[in-house]
Amino acid sequence: MIDLSGKTALVTGGSRGIGRATALTLARAGSTVVVADRSDALRTDGASTSDLIRAAGGRAESLLLDVSSSAAVDAVFDDVAARHGIDILVNNAGVLSPGSVTETSDDAWRSLFSVNVDGTFFCMRAALRHMVPAGRGGKVINVASISGLRANPGFAGYCAAKGAMVNLTRQAGIDYAPHGINVNAVAPGFVETDMTAIYDAPIRRALEAQTPNGKWATAQQIADTILFLSCGLSDHLCGEVVAVDGGWLVGTPVVVERVTAAGGIA
Ligand SMILES: NC(=O)c1ccc[n+]([C@@H]2O[C@H](COP(=O)([O-])OP(=O)(O)OC[C@H]3O[C@@H](n4cnc5c(N)ncnc54)[C@H](O)[C@@H]3O)[C@@H](O)[C@H]2O)c1
Repeated sequence: MIDLSGKTALVTGGSRGIGRATALTLARAGSTVVVADRSDALRTDGASTSDLIRAAGGRAESLLLDVSSSAAVDAVFDDVAARHGIDILVNNAGVLSPGSVTETSDDAWRSLFSVNVDGTFFCMRAALRHMVPAGRGGKVINVASISGLRANPGFAGYCAAKGAMVNLTRQAGIDYAPHGINVNAVAPGFVETDMTAIYDAPIRRALEAQTPNGKWATAQQIADTILFLSCGLSDHLCGEVVAVDGGWLVGTPVVVERVTAAGGIA
């Protein structure tokens, strides 16, 4: 049983998708959760993530935050640290847009970097400035992607941005390890969320066929790995990037005849 009672977690981009599943999961484990999103209070389905957490008996609040604004990030983190402290940061806010190098506009490139890379950096820096002097250790989990570890055809800016997040995770992972602060990342494969609604049915079938276990992940499966990285079970992981991808990075199935151990063709 993972027990995060007494801890406060700040989850960026927590109004939907992986961020929402993560916020709900950390709250079920006992953490107070601050959901920081540029749109959480604006949901039209009547229930923000923090509403759902409170309705289930947990402790949560929603704050509007655009993670690409350094000043806004500092103000929100100072406020949360003063009222609760910050024990766990999940840098989940992210944006995706397609385009090869020649198809990517200046605006698309800047947007991909300002949210995925700048946002992660601003939030990590703001949290670490509180975690280090507080002396209680801490957990930072960056939501990267398999696209940060391997090329993804037609997604130049996204691959570059997630790659930057991966190596920032490794770098900060060693700098803050002596403080008892674990900086790690998850690298999801294909996950059922609003973000991946851009894929039509034939592309989804092709991506499933190329995934060793034949499935996309649920947001909950990513949240479960983030829960592990948020608790004491992961205290010896520093700067690690954990792929949650049905085996995609390990080896993509190739549709050819296989040679058997006896030398025949299967
Ligand atoms: N869905 C996938 O297949 C997949 C795969 C790999 C990685 N990821 C990563 O997982 C994370 C979550 O993705 P998701 O699929 O849940 O996407 P999503 O689009 O459903 O959710 C993203 C959330 O981030 C918020 N957000 C975007 N820009 C923001 C900003 N500037 N400030 C604050 N909040 C902002 C959005 O409001 C939204 O709530 C992203 O970083 C994404 O790149 C997703």
